[in-house]
Amino acid sequence: MDNNISLKFALTVALLWTAVVGGLLAWDERIERRHADELAKKEARSNFNKDLAFRMWATRHGGVYVPVDARTPPNPGLAHIPERDIETPSGRKLTLMNPAFIMRQMMDEFGDLYGVKGKITSSKLINPANAPDEWEAAALRRFEQGESEVFEFSDIGGKPYLRLMQPLKVNAGCLKCHAFQGYRVGDVRGGVGVSVPMKPYLDDLQSRTAPRLATLCIIWLAGLAAIAALITEVRRRFDVQEAAAVELQRQSLVISRTNADLQRFAEVTAHHLQEPARRMATYAERLTEQLGGRLDNAEARLSLEFIGQQAHRQQNLLRDVERYLASDQPRGKVEPADARKAVDAILARLKDRIGEAGAEISVGDLPPCRIDLPRLDDAFSVALENAIVHGRAKQSLRIGIDGERIGGKVRYSVSDNGPGVEEQYREKVFRVFERLSSSTAGTGIGLAILRRVAESCGGRAWLEETPGGGCRVRFELHADDSP
Ligand code: HEC
Repeated sequence: MDNNISLKFALTVALLWTAVVGGLLAWDERIERRHADELAKKEARSNFNKDLAFRMWATRHGGVYVPVDARTPPNPGLAHIPERDIETPSGRKLTLMNPAFIMRQMMDEFGDLYGVKGKITSSKLINPANAPDEWEAAALRRFEQGESEVFEFSDIGGKPYLRLMQPLKVNAGCLKCHAFQGYRVGDVRGGVGVSVPMKPYLDDLQSRTAPRLATLCIIWLAGLAAIAALITEVRRRFDVQEAAAVELQRQSLVISRTNADLQRFAEVTAHHLQEPARRMATYAERLTEQLGGRLDNAEARLSLEFIGQQAHRQQNLLRDVERYLASDQPRGKVEPADARKAVDAILARLKDRIGEAGAEISVGDLPPCRIDLPRLDDAFSVALENAIVHGRAKQSLRIGIDGERIGGKVRYSVSDNGPGVEEQYREKVFRVFERLSSSTAGTGIGLAILRRVAESCGGRAWLEETPGGGCRVRFELHADDSP
């Protein structure tokens, strides 16, 4: 694989992975933070309710009498209340505490126990100690506009707090002490709130951040390592495959070159052997003519005849070898070819041999096919010669030539009623020089030529039994209208 591409790919995947882990971190952080906020809100709510209950209790009693001491002097804000200060029969002095005062005192003295600040405030103060801070003042204004609760994160003295505040409405119990200010039942008298410090929650969050970060870091690094390993492996396999492909290409080049060399060698050899064979035949003929009747030795005459025969045979063989070698390439224009015309021409050419064999030939429907004419001629000639040569053991040899269109192909058949070919030999006869009989007729190359022609055109050739006995040569070629 290209070094650059695989590096880019690795970087992209690593970046994606980092983005995923980063996203995970952010998501986790959010959830943790939300969780902390939820807890703080719960704490604020429960404290608020506790304060509310406590204040309601104090209001229901119209305030509570407690012994007077330095921390709890009579409240000047209650000066208008009769019996603000009373005495027990034994002479102990008691003074009335109002709910706001009780709350403030509790916060002042036991605030550390609470941790959560509770407060009652108003924009119309009896006691300036109850004055609202900035956030509370804003909340009070929102209550006057009808809001029923303000629940927010806000700083107090630079430290983060969660603050909850609700309006404090006047009920009948309040009027005992607040009627003099002109309030009526239902008025917003002020607000009551709690403030939960967020520091413990945030500290807790932070203390858990490091281990979470470490875990994610490990996952991230492991992912990176896995990506690196994966890409290295993919690259290795790719390289191996590529090397194999290159080697295969090289080998196939060598093979096709060798093949071409061999083919060329065979062609040249066959061509050069033609000439001596032709001369031998000519000279044998001449010799026979010249000696003529003068040759009275029968054995010598027979030998001369034999030489002539063998020279002819060699010529035929060489001709077929050349035809075989050339049969996988078109020898003319590949075009729609009239099979009927081709067969008629062959029948005319082989008229004598057909007559000799006493064969009766019938030609059926022959649909056109797509091939160059010389090879179409070869294919039919071979099939017909095969029928004449191998069917002639029969007394009355009948040969049928037929064709049919099957899909985009045309299937031709040449059938004889001769002895036929046993099933186990029907493939063998398509090999070069494979002959079933040792008869001198035929070169043993014919059917191999036919098969090579058919297969190089995308078709096939095979043998079947003619119904009723005999051999049927079949071959398929593309139909004339196929692309
Ligand atoms: C026993 C008398 C008494 C009763 C009952 C009482 N208050 Fe008060 N309240 C006071 C006094 C006195 C103050 C001011 C001094 C203080 O803070 O102690 C005060 C302060 C407040 C404040 C703080 C603002 C300020 O003016 O300082 C609010 C708000 C308040 N009261 C609301 C209520 C409401 C609402 C009720 C009824 C649910 C109620 N009070 C019942 C006596 C009372």
